[in-house]
Amino acid sequence: MYILGINAYHGDAAAAIVRDGELIAAVEEERFNRIKHCAGFPTESVRYCLKTAGIGIEEIEHIGISRDPSAHLHRKVMFAAGRAAKQVAGGMVSGHRTIDTLEDEGTGNGNGRMTRPNGRQSIFGQIKDRLNNAAKVRDLSDELATALGVASKSLRARFHNVEHHRAHLASSFYVSPFERAALLSIDGFGDFISTMWAQGEGTSIEVLGQVEYPHSTGIVYTATTQFLGFPHYGDEGKVMGLAPYGKPRFMDEFRDIIRTDEGGRFRLNLDYFRHHAEGVDMTWDNGSPVIGRVFSDQFAETFGPARPPGAQLTEREHDIACSLQLRLEEVSFHVLRHLHEQTGLTDLGLSGGVAYNSVMNGKILLNTPFRRVFVQPAAGDSGTALGVCYQIYNRILKQQRGSAIEGAYTGPEFTNADIKGELERSGLPFEIYPDEDLTKRAARDIADGLVVGWFQGRMEFGPRALGNRSIVVDPRRPEMKDILNDRIKKREPFRPFAPSILEEHTDAYFEQDHPAPTMLMVYQIRPERRSEIPAVTHVDGSGRLQTVSRVLNPRYYQLISDFNELTGVPVVLNTSFNENEPIVCTPRHAIDCFMKTRMDVLYLGNQAVRRNQDK
Ligand SMILES: [Fe+2]
Repeated sequence: MYILGINAYHGDAAAAIVRDGELIAAVEEERFNRIKHCAGFPTESVRYCLKTAGIGIEEIEHIGISRDPSAHLHRKVMFAAGRAAKQVAGGMVSGHRTIDTLEDEGTGNGNGRMTRPNGRQSIFGQIKDRLNNAAKVRDLSDELATALGVASKSLRARFHNVEHHRAHLASSFYVSPFERAALLSIDGFGDFISTMWAQGEGTSIEVLGQVEYPHSTGIVYTATTQFLGFPHYGDEGKVMGLAPYGKPRFMDEFRDIIRTDEGGRFRLNLDYFRHHAEGVDMTWDNGSPVIGRVFSDQFAETFGPARPPGAQLTEREHDIACSLQLRLEEVSFHVLRHLHEQTGLTDLGLSGGVAYNSVMNGKILLNTPFRRVFVQPAAGDSGTALGVCYQIYNRILKQQRGSAIEGAYTGPEFTNADIKGELERSGLPFEIYPDEDLTKRAARDIADGLVVGWFQGRMEFGPRALGNRSIVVDPRRPEMKDILNDRIKKREPFRPFAPSILEEHTDAYFEQDHPAPTMLMVYQIRPERRSEIPAVTHVDGSGRLQTVSRVLNPRYYQLISDFNELTGVPVVLNTSFNENEPIVCTPRHAIDCFMKTRMDVLYLGNQAVRRNQDK
């Protein structure tokens, strides 16, 4: 039995396919169409899933999407009616699509944009129209048939709308190693909810609590990120990287901006935000999602003027980032402690966009009673495609759970023959190494200080390159950070680079050793080790590590082992294989990136291309 899961009309559109409970493929649309965080319909991802399974769409029995316009409808109508009353009183009618209010329930049209309500209608007319749109989006069949160029009647699948956070929760439980676990989905917004917590047991997930629109930890982070002059979708990670440079001198302000309540709940001081009152546009006319300004003028009254993008960063920005990060951690731990009290459990499945805050994740074991944490690699919205599949398989169809998913290697792969063909077309001279020499040769290049492109096996699902679409360099060389930024990545200089470490050495280098196979945990590096691996040690002594096991990725494990053999250091610096675009997917993308940048050597499967031979 085949199940197809889809995340569409949210950031990071994606698709996943499951056969009899086994994950066959999962991939983000941005990797194919090269549009970062692409938020339209994941046509190419669906095609890839079907091709990998070797079937046509007519053989799929269940298809699900990770949004449910009918979920929480009562609350949505109440909220919209309340806002409408205010707008009518103020003589203002908003005709824009906003972040996850009723207006979020439009459906995609031919150009990948949500339908918009007519701004000149009465408010109650708008509400009616939006409910009609909600009904349309429930019918995914036509959209899918159009995208695949098949007749709608050839689809025999049963369609499911899975509420956004239930899809997140499912993605963090049904594929986890836990029979029972506490679960937390913590996010911006999806289906009118920002945070949902639950208990998973066997094939069921019981929701225990939630926080609704307009209150959201994710929205606080996004608003502050915009205020600090980082306007792009997904820029929150930059602010997380900036935080350790600052001091927490704005904690009182952030404790006022987001306040904790009884029962694990929290709420925003809405004076600081625009989304609840005026609405905030979210559009993706050109592919990448663009979010309008979320922060209100109150931010400037409290902190001074917003930093224009590109302006010099000052102590003030460092201190705001630091205070924001610490407040996010306080609020998250407040929710998590409540979740532990409710469930009595010490195993945790974590998901949602805020679960990409690896600094927060890395402190969970130190600040809450939880003892084991599972974060699947696509913890954010793309992972809801996977969650949908398992919500259908385990919860709706009540099928037994299968084995846990530990790796992220569910994307496209290419044979050596494919790669050779592409290299020959490119005209680049290349060498071929047998397996026994390949990793030794690459380890030597890394130890010699070269910038090495490492393209192997199946592409990763989720935002982190985990040794299959990676750029790998020597972490012992402090200059490597600047070299990578100057020659390839062009990132802001304050952002750290991450270490990959052989898992059995984790304890020797880090103050915690809970596995972090998906690079979603930041731990403190032991002080005596920091000077040994300066290129991956952040300003506060931390590192966002990937623990590498022989089982999950034997070739990458061997590469680091060979580097360890040469240098006595079981760590390499691992950054994603891209310049400033989505991570490379195909050999062609990798060759293009190699040509555009000043990478020294590119390993593609068993083939290697060297810069000096290119001249
Ligand atoms: Fe989400």
